[in-house]
Amino acid sequence: MSRVLLTSKLFDPALDALSAHELVMPKPEGSMSTDEIAAAAKDAKALICQLTDRIGEPIFAAAPGLEVVATVSVGFDNVDVKAATRAGIPVCNTPGVLAETTADLAFALILSASRVLSDSERDLRQGGYKKWELDGYLGQDVYGATLGLVGYGRIGQAVAKRAEGFSMRVIHHDLAPTGLPGYIEDLDELVSQADVISIHVPLTAETRHLIDARRLALMKPTAVLVNTSRGPVVDEEALGAALESGRLFAAGIDVYEQEPAVHPRLLAAPRAVLLPHIGSASFATRLAMARLATSAVAEVLAGGQPANTVNPEVYNK
Ligand code: DGY
Repeated sequence: MSRVLLTSKLFDPALDALSAHELVMPKPEGSMSTDEIAAAAKDAKALICQLTDRIGEPIFAAAPGLEVVATVSVGFDNVDVKAATRAGIPVCNTPGVLAETTADLAFALILSASRVLSDSERDLRQGGYKKWELDGYLGQDVYGATLGLVGYGRIGQAVAKRAEGFSMRVIHHDLAPTGLPGYIEDLDELVSQADVISIHVPLTAETRHLIDARRLALMKPTAVLVNTSRGPVVDEEALGAALESGRLFAAGIDVYEQEPAVHPRLLAAPRAVLLPHIGSASFATRLAMARLATSAVAEVLAGGQPANTVNPEVYNK
């Protein structure tokens, strides 16, 4: 029996995979500080964290017996993977199981932002809908528009599939050439051609502020920007300014630079649909993510090497 530290609660059915182990969950409702995690991880063999936890050197130093870290997310920018690799600790994430659900949400944002749903609904709720007007609440057509996907992994490709139903022309850019139809090597070219730009890249040093003021200025004034990846990929201040000035038509945003805080300029901007990081938030998908994390931990503790390890090189050491 090994001690497994959970930084916050998981769904009960996901814990079955760890029934042979001792589970420690000091704060079931979440929000342990790094120091608290380090203290609690002292005798732990495994750590299951969430994207809101910062996992790095101080925790690895405090937990010499740690054999695996699993984050209940596909993005793993919350874990210092280099430090984990140095410490010989495999880091597991939850790829695959959330791609379709996140693509659904990205497409919902494409539709909501293009058709100005948040502003229209707010206006109705505030009593602003007095009569139907020919030029009221006008948005941009999604049907037949050009969709520019920034990042063409599982989620980007799942969004592309949905776009077929809307007869969209789909182009994509990725950090490395994909060799697939619609690939555009130059991101500047993609953002200037697209009517809708949807972001699906992981957060790395290379992708931080990938969409900055300069790239926002290259977009069509009728363009719509959607981000369901990680907040810091977009310069929020610059996005707020572009929406304010009408330089960009609309945005659908699910992730923020300083979550859970949202930049005041973005909050105040017109035609911005803002959601609280719910890309993967369906009952089935969140359970599947938790299950993938617990089964990866169980596998490592049993001497295995789960396929969803982001630093598999540790197994060859
Ligand atoms: C992830 O998994 O990285 C998402 O942001 C939350 O599902």
